[in-house]
Amino acid sequence: MKTADIIVLDFGSQYTQIIARKLREQGFYAEILPFNAPLEAIKAKSPKGVILSGGPASVYADDAYFCDKGVFELGVPLLGICYGMQLLAHHFGANVEAANKKEYGKATLNVLDNHILFKDTPNSQIVWMSHSDVVLELPNGFKPLARSEHSPFCAFGDDVRKFYAFQFHPEVAHSEFGYLMLKNFAKHICGCESTWNMGSFAKAQMQKIKAEVGDDKVLCAVSGGVDSSVVAALLAHSIKENLIVVFVDNGLLRTNEREQVENTFKTRLGVDLIVIDASELFLSRLAGVTDPEKKRKIIGETFIEVFDKEAKKHKNVKYLAQGTLYTDIIESSVAGAGKTIKSHHNVGGLPSWMEFKLIEPLKEIFKDEVRKLGLELGLARDLVYRHPFPGPGLAIRIMGEVNTPSLELLRKADVILRDELKSSGWYDKTWQAFCVLLNVHSVGVMGDNRTYENAVCIRVVDASDGMTASFSRLPYDLLENISKRIINEVSGINRVVYDISSKPPATIEWE
Ligand code: XMP
Repeated sequence: MKTADIIVLDFGSQYTQIIARKLREQGFYAEILPFNAPLEAIKAKSPKGVILSGGPASVYADDAYFCDKGVFELGVPLLGICYGMQLLAHHFGANVEAANKKEYGKATLNVLDNHILFKDTPNSQIVWMSHSDVVLELPNGFKPLARSEHSPFCAFGDDVRKFYAFQFHPEVAHSEFGYLMLKNFAKHICGCESTWNMGSFAKAQMQKIKAEVGDDKVLCAVSGGVDSSVVAALLAHSIKENLIVVFVDNGLLRTNEREQVENTFKTRLGVDLIVIDASELFLSRLAGVTDPEKKRKIIGETFIEVFDKEAKKHKNVKYLAQGTLYTDIIESSVAGAGKTIKSHHNVGGLPSWMEFKLIEPLKEIFKDEVRKLGLELGLARDLVYRHPFPGPGLAIRIMGEVNTPSLELLRKADVILRDELKSSGWYDKTWQAFCVLLNVHSVGVMGDNRTYENAVCIRVVDASDGMTASFSRLPYDLLENISKRIINEVSGINRVVYDISSKPPATIEWE
């Protein structure tokens, strides 16, 4: 997408993406760029307004993040949130200091004037604070707009230049009316119209793909999951005969997965799917590898090798289309100010020698938004609401070396888990469910005999976009059933444990 209503510059806050989402949910197209995005990249989006996000640092820290100073000269309205507020105050020469009392959590905001930013919100309202620095004096030309018990200048602004700043986070749910402030900024300050929706997003993406690709061909790699299926549907609508859809069996799939994907694409969607069996290649490359990041890099690189080989069989294949999401990019730390958490196979796992140009129409949106887009494009509900399954597959659910016996054991346990969740109605209530082969042996007793076999961990989580997650509160009876069935039916497993960690500090997958 070439233009955006609002650009959000990411200074590393865990809430940055929520700012963009809250705006999109209200019909304004917002895109996130890293805090140090070149001015030209920001201008290229022709935004009607810019939001400076929060961030963990202090503007006086040695490693403080600053954006290009030209951002303040763009001639469009600016809104600084938390760190963004301090940055704005600091830029205009005001004093920012460590507060006597840090303010975390709920605070009462008292609005000082009936400013349009607070339209449709009460004069006294709850907002969410998370900061330790405060602005002690206002920069020239700014006036106070709201205060809290500990911050005299909790919101301030300059109506001439249209620069505004909030100490609190309007984007989080705890700031009860914060979403309205974001809407007021977009609509009344920046003059954006609330016209954006998934239909317009789909249309714009299709036009963009068509214009970019021209007469060249695109290889679209699908996994059977919602992200790549939505990408394939977008491409099918826009470039039709120039599309080559490929599914790679990497040997790391679940029971019957290949057959299911073939059936979905060939029979239900009428796509001429090319299925490549590369399982031996992937498994031979993974032999002896135990380090999670090494596994991820090997898998990422091998995928590209296989795509490359397939592309050479056709003419003019210049593009590779992938279902990369915003979350994949953030966790692989390609954008934003964060550190690498894991190299998602389709982002941080890509080899430097790759010649394909990438088409990633979903890279600015989140899984739940992709699902809405999938429904908009007419994909079936069961495909759209399938649990996510990572590209590196079962390899990152086997602790230690990946080999055929481990894969077989894990597949048998996994199919039981999914079967039980589906028959009990819990599959649709949860974000994701899978088994992890722990590579730990424990002593058990079966009949009168001692066993010394594998332990399996069950991971079932609730999430809305995978950025955060909590373990699902499954009924004990269901857990007992799953455990009993796995131990009774899968020879080689004698113990089942349930993972009760949330993300953060854990992650959803184990590797
Ligand atoms: P984590 O484990 O980072 O996972 O909390 C968040 C979500 O992303 C999925 N995931 C991946 N998906 N390629 C993918 O396509 C990957 O390399 C990858 N790693 C994690 C994970 O299953 C969860 O839904």
